[in-house]
Amino acid sequence: MTTQTSPLGRIVVIGFGNMGRALVRGLLASTTCEIIVCDRYKSSEAEEFVNSHTKRITFLQLNQVQRDGIEIPLTSHDTLILCTKPQNLQESVQFWKPIFCSGGGTPLVVSILAGTPIEQIQKLFQGSVVARAMPNIAATVDSAATALCLSIDASESETQRAKSIFEAVGKAWIVPEELMNAVTGLSGSGPAYIYMVIEALSDGGVKMGMPRQLALELAAQTVLGAAKLVQETGLHPAVLRDQVTTPGGTTISAIHELERHGLRPMLISAVVTATKKSRLLARAAEKKVNKN
Ligand SMILES: NC(=O)c1ccc[n+]([C@@H]2O[C@H](COP(=O)([O-])OP(=O)(O)OC[C@H]3O[C@@H](n4cnc5c(N)ncnc54)[C@H](OP(=O)(O)O)[C@@H]3O)[C@@H](O)[C@H]2O)c1
Repeated sequence: MTTQTSPLGRIVVIGFGNMGRALVRGLLASTTCEIIVCDRYKSSEAEEFVNSHTKRITFLQLNQVQRDGIEIPLTSHDTLILCTKPQNLQESVQFWKPIFCSGGGTPLVVSILAGTPIEQIQKLFQGSVVARAMPNIAATVDSAATALCLSIDASESETQRAKSIFEAVGKAWIVPEELMNAVTGLSGSGPAYIYMVIEALSDGGVKMGMPRQLALELAAQTVLGAAKLVQETGLHPAVLRDQVTTPGGTTISAIHELERHGLRPMLISAVVTATKKSRLLARAAEKKVNKN
């Protein structure tokens, strides 16, 4: 394999599931680097994906690597992205680390594993700078909201390197690690809340006699357009809401109804509850790791 000149170096993705594929798709479109993807098996989705990008991707399957004794030493200019489920972290590092870090190389390690602290990853990859990121499912349509934090030894260029991975599939923000549970509660789980909003709005349309498909398309486009206005104007949502609220009109009647049923406290509570749950799950996972 040839050495790459991309600022991301060579990229290795461990775990080629939904998120792994989404990140690789974005990186293929936004960089020129060579990408190595690793998984236990080649699923039909992985097969199709790899076949359509044979010049840029190398797929490594666990048993093939075991059989052939492959070693691909990475350096600190390269990037290793962990995309397995958190419960597969230990076994996957145990297997893949000797393959990529055998020469004592210390690639930038980027983890998207929910609830897995930087400290835990740094213990597994001593000497490596670690980035911990929480993207969301919208990465699959290049519209992810990703928050990420880095170990204290990260340089400005390593921080930018990690951030650019997620900018390939949406927008990204650097945050302190203590905010990662809140990020999970807001943007990590957030798509599910908005799906419920879209579904309920379209139900309203159906109740008022609209065909289901039309109601769904109107509701989804309304959410997309409203979000775009918040982003593009930079105005506070309350200002934008006031701009479309005619005195004595239809919108203020509906807003009254939403306030009466507690839409805002309900959404605030949803984020608070999901954040607390994320904290609890992270603590439970940490205890389990410390026990082993
Ligand atoms: N999905 C989301 O919306 C989202 C959002 C933010 C963060 N995340 C995080 O992203 C990570 C991946 O989520 P996902 O939805 O992409 O999961 P996924 O679709 O299950 O992908 C994980 C992949 O890792 C593979 N894997 C397991 N053990 C492995 C090993 N030892 N070596 C190589 N590959 C291995 C799995 O193979 P098998 O199927 O054979 O186990 C699977 O293909 C999770 O840690 C999650 O917390 C997900």
